[in-house]
Amino acid sequence: MYDAEGEEEGGLENHFIFNIDKDLLIDPRRVLVRRLIAEGPYSLVYAGEYESKPVAVKVIQPMKTSDVILEHKVKFQREVMLQSRMNHGNIVKLIGACVEPAMFLLTELMGGDTLQKHLLSIRPKHLDLKLSISFALDISRAMEYLHENCIIHRDLKPNNLLLTEDKKRIKVADFGLAREETTNEMTCEAGTYKWMAPELFSKAALQIGKKKNYDHKVDVYSFSIILWELLTNKAPFKGRDNLIVAYAAAANNERPSLENIPEELATLLRSCWSENPALRPEFMEITKYLKEYLYSLWPADMTPPKVMEIEDAQNKTGEDFKGSGHVTKKSAERAKKQKSSSPSFLVCFDNCLSE
Ligand SMILES: Nc1ncnc2c1ncn2[C@@H]1O[C@H](COP(=O)(O)OP(=O)(O)OP(=O)(O)O)[C@@H](O)[C@H]1O
Ligand SMILES: [Mg+2]
Repeated sequence: MYDAEGEEEGGLENHFIFNIDKDLLIDPRRVLVRRLIAEGPYSLVYAGEYESKPVAVKVIQPMKTSDVILEHKVKFQREVMLQSRMNHGNIVKLIGACVEPAMFLLTELMGGDTLQKHLLSIRPKHLDLKLSISFALDISRAMEYLHENCIIHRDLKPNNLLLTEDKKRIKVADFGLAREETTNEMTCEAGTYKWMAPELFSKAALQIGKKKNYDHKVDVYSFSIILWELLTNKAPFKGRDNLIVAYAAAANNERPSLENIPEELATLLRSCWSENPALRPEFMEITKYLKEYLYSLWPADMTPPKVMEIEDAQNKTGEDFKGSGHVTKKSAERAKKQKSSSPSFLVCFDNCLSE
């Protein structure tokens, strides 16, 4: 157990004893920080290096652990513990975490941007149908695995879906809102309205923090909006304010248009965004459906490329990370050189604090 209390600045209410598996804790001096990738209200995400492997460093704000509010410490610990249990080719792998002097988690670095940025960059074109179904399969397989392990993601959206460098595969990231599914009522926290299931918008649930009955099917609803975006490359509920979207989806049962979408996929979308969560399919069924649909897109005398298979996805994505661990002499030398010229996490941390 690691005591990261804020007696001086935060006072007793900020007192928190971390209970993170010792094997997950890493020495911040061994983490090199290279460039800022993303900045949010809760965290800063950097590209960096750890043991000669490229990593993403998600640093919780404010940077000094004793200044971080209790709620964010609890959230961080939950994120680390949940993500550390995940072992799937379509889920971003956690490498380790640090709690002092700053809280950060290390994950494998995804080199291909978020799905959100990628879709924006090719607009007004849309993805090739086979590629969009292959992406949807990646997401569905990851979600099938999460639900099998009784974990609800709760924040499935294109910004939390990361592409591999070759932009051919997707991995699910950001377990900041993920929860273990319980039979009790669960707290409703703010996700992002456009991808949130309508049952989360009932009057009681709109008051953030209220308890609400919902289940893993909220992820199936989010998936339906993502699948629609993959197929159309349009913005769902375009130009609408967040609360109006919530109202339109929940009170008026409004959904994006199915115009120009192949009938088989329109059928899938309709069932995934059903108002009644019980009528939405399980991810296991979605995976099966998409796999069959993808196969049907190839002429009868041709077999789809092996890349569509999960075994391949796991090997390939696993290799991406493992492969960079087998450094050749040349790349080891390069890594050594870079090490001496780039700041370790602690140096960067000190600089940030003194600014
Ligand atoms: N492993 C990674 N590889 C590459 N980029 C990443 C990685 N993890 C995160 N990012 C980038 O950082 C952004 C924010 O990361 P993440 O979604 O985990 O945090 P967040 O949304 O700020 O946090 P939270 O939702 O927990 O408050 C992502 O949208 C992505 O652009
Ligand atoms: Mg996110």
